[in-house]
Amino acid sequence: MWPYPKVIAHRGGGILAPENTLAAMRCGLEHGFAAVEFDVMLSKDGIPVLMHDPEFGRTVSGHGAVADTLAADLQKKDAGKWLAERFAGEPVPLYADIVHFCRQHGIWMNVEIKPAPGVEEETGRVVAEQTQALFADVAVTDDLHLPLFSSFSFSALMAAKHAAPTIPRGFLMDKVTRDWKACLQELAARALHTNHKYLTPEMTKEIKDGGYGVFCYTVNTPERATEILHWGVDAFCTDRIDLIPADF
Ligand code: G3P
Ligand code: MG
Repeated sequence: MWPYPKVIAHRGGGILAPENTLAAMRCGLEHGFAAVEFDVMLSKDGIPVLMHDPEFGRTVSGHGAVADTLAADLQKKDAGKWLAERFAGEPVPLYADIVHFCRQHGIWMNVEIKPAPGVEEETGRVVAEQTQALFADVAVTDDLHLPLFSSFSFSALMAAKHAAPTIPRGFLMDKVTRDWKACLQELAARALHTNHKYLTPEMTKEIKDGGYGVFCYTVNTPERATEILHWGVDAFCTDRIDLIPADF
């Protein structure tokens, strides 16, 4: 049901490093995390890059949109300085480069497909195609060496399913809605990823009894982590890799 690690570093290194950068992946690894979640979006020229926000302004300074910017120009942008001066010059990474780094260091990946508005299907398809090529040497049954896709976008995940059916999927729902099972069935997903704030023990049991894994975001205290694990939640991501160890 959930063959993956239990504690996952959110956006690479949680609060300790600039999200969705190579520095974040290194930071997670230094803290003992061999499991990571990050967000993937398409550049203007259709290249998957790591990015959470579709618009610049928070992690990348200035104005403009990721979907209007070429990958080569995104790679020149500073995605580190916003957090701390010591991260200045940390670039927006290409998804392919992060996959290489993670595979080299044995880091398992939850790849969140994060489409810019209006390009959901294209993002799901392109990320899935590239992922399939990057993992072509891995057996389809080798769960720990294949990534797990997730997305809030049903259509992006459907497109990923069509393009790369052998890469597993989890569906992200902020609040679990009544149609959760139908969604998971149509996606042939193996897990439901949801906000721990709205999850209940009863709902956890229902999803688990349905044969699916339950993953929660973003759990930042050990007390809450203990509580939801007690409910039967399989795994969670955390920003507080300083408070919640990988072997929690
Ligand atoms: O994949 C879990 C979590 O990352 C979803 O929310 O906004 O942090 O990408 P967000
Ligand atoms: Mg995410």
